[in-house]
Amino acid sequence: MGKETILVTGGAGFIGSHLVESLLQEDYRVICLDNFNDSYSPLLKEQNIRHVLENPDFELIRGDILDIKLLHDIFSGNYLPEPRTQTQTQRPKTDDRRPTKVVHLAAMAGVRASFISPDIYIDVDVKGTLNLLEVARNYDVKQFIFASSSSVYGINKKVPFSPDDPLLLQVSPYAAAKRCAELYCRTYHHLYNIPITILRLFTVYGPRQRPDMAIRKFISLIFDDKPIPVFGDGKSRRDYTYVSDCMEGFMKAMNKPMDFEIFNIGSGKLIELQELINLLERETGREVKMEHLDNQAGDVPITYADISKTRRTLGYNPKISIEGGVKRFVEWYKREYKLRKE
Ligand SMILES: NC(=O)c1ccc[n+]([C@@H]2O[C@H](COP(=O)([O-])OP(=O)(O)OC[C@H]3O[C@@H](n4cnc5c(N)ncnc54)[C@H](O)[C@@H]3O)[C@@H](O)[C@H]2O)c1
Repeated sequence: MGKETILVTGGAGFIGSHLVESLLQEDYRVICLDNFNDSYSPLLKEQNIRHVLENPDFELIRGDILDIKLLHDIFSGNYLPEPRTQTQTQRPKTDDRRPTKVVHLAAMAGVRASFISPDIYIDVDVKGTLNLLEVARNYDVKQFIFASSSSVYGINKKVPFSPDDPLLLQVSPYAAAKRCAELYCRTYHHLYNIPITILRLFTVYGPRQRPDMAIRKFISLIFDDKPIPVFGDGKSRRDYTYVSDCMEGFMKAMNKPMDFEIFNIGSGKLIELQELINLLERETGREVKMEHLDNQAGDVPITYADISKTRRTLGYNPKISIEGGVKRFVEWYKREYKLRKE
């Protein structure tokens, strides 16, 4: 039997590029669909996947999840692959190129940016997800994994956040779009019986993290000797997930298809913003300058994942502490940007 083909949307992004690697390591074929948009530098996305381009089990499609014809072509095996050094005869037969599973990560992913252009979030995060669900039902996809977000919990009074909690108030257009996409997943499962797993990710960090996100942004400002923006009183608390733990969550979900389930992917631990800053100061070996600013719309005081269901059902077991994760991330950053401790 040939290798199973997985479609990873947004596979050139931060999380997607790590997932592509994990899947190739587990001997899957991977089709990566990404439009390399400029939500941050497309060059970073090119770098994220450069080391897998020559892998014969990896196929890159530069395209948009809003292009429904392209999606049909991918699922029917009719798309024309990009030319590369690999010869045509090495390519798998058309049938083998049809994806049987989808991991859907492509999205407009920034909370802050969603206040500036909320309409794009409806286009990509909602309509794009709906497009993929439509093709998934037409081509009898065996498993659909959707990357959702801790943001859907909004200002949830009860902590830690559990997948069973009622979701009353999303506080950014991004969160509302993700919640809306989750609802479409639920509806499409009900109507067409597509097996769907929703993973609600809690702030993922590590090598290749998006430059707009805390930790990456902080590290880069610290090395540039610039102040880091501290919103509010520094007491906001977050559940941060190191990217290798996040990958464990995805791979465990891949290996255990569900009818329809929602899981939190987090560390199940909290760190206060000020403690995180102290940790960054220690690991970078630089003095951290801070610029204190008011809280912004969309900020939530706490994100905290109840991961008991994920542990119990998927065997998920996050291993990297925030101390270990920040250390690794700073080392990566210094290597990548050729910085040395003074
Ligand atoms: N990073 C986190 O902490 C985090 C937390 C919660 C949820 N998520 C979700 O995980 C997913 C990946 O996040 P990330 O941090 O890797 O973001 P990212 O921006 O690095 O990756 C998203 C990728 O999707 C691609 N993309 C965007 N619109 C597209 C379109 N219309 N067609 C094809 N490709 C498109 C982008 O070019 C990018 O490479 C997103 O769905 C995000 O909402 C991330």
